Amino acid sequence: MRGIILACVATLLCAGSLNAADRLVSPNGISYFPEYMTWKLIAPSYREDKGHIRIITGNGIAVAALQAGKKPLPDGSVLAKVAWKAEKHPSFPVATVPGAFAQVEFMVKDSRKYKSTGGWGFARFVGNDLKPYGKDAGFVSECFGCHIPVAKNDYLFTKPVKTP
Ligand code: HEC
Repeated sequence: MRGIILACVATLLCAGSLNAADRLVSPNGISYFPEYMTWKLIAPSYREDKGHIRIITGNGIAVAALQAGKKPLPDGSVLAKVAWKAEKHPSFPVATVPGAFAQVEFMVKDSRKYKSTGGWGFARFVGNDLKPYGKDAGFVSECFGCHIPVAKNDYLFTKPVKTP
């Protein structure tokens, strides 16, 4: 009996220690990508009205296509945009640096599944508890709507940052 109880406790502890982020899903069915910070940097950005410092990263498929100048990006491409609240560096106030985590957004390419939104699936996870954004799957019209002006660039605003 004691053995059974211990086994149960161990199972519960193990289940609890699984990264909770792995189980996060957006209302349109897109799961959180916990590895986005290991992807390659495409570019940083700064959004004045929101006071956000951001980086845009991409998985291997996306980065290879961007580097080769291939558009539209192939299925399997995923881009992440991570945002932090911009704040002054405490030891050097004219330097603006990332402060609290704000949110992370994803664009996932699947030209058949997401045909009605330019082949891109959208997802956003907000705050430190990574709350999936959107009351229902309809939230994507907000995302897609704002990305339409860059339809000619495969609905992407970001261009790879220049280096020598
Ligand atoms: C009001 C306009 C607007 C809305 C709404 C919007 N975006 Fe964007 N998005 C942008 C702009 C502008 C950029 C360029 C980089 C930046 O803003 O930092 C961008 C960039 C991105 C990128 C990086 C790839 C790229 O296109 O440069 C991702 C990923 C992204 N957005 C996801 C989303 C998701 C997911 C939603 C909805 C939950 C969304 N966006 C809603 C304007 C918008």
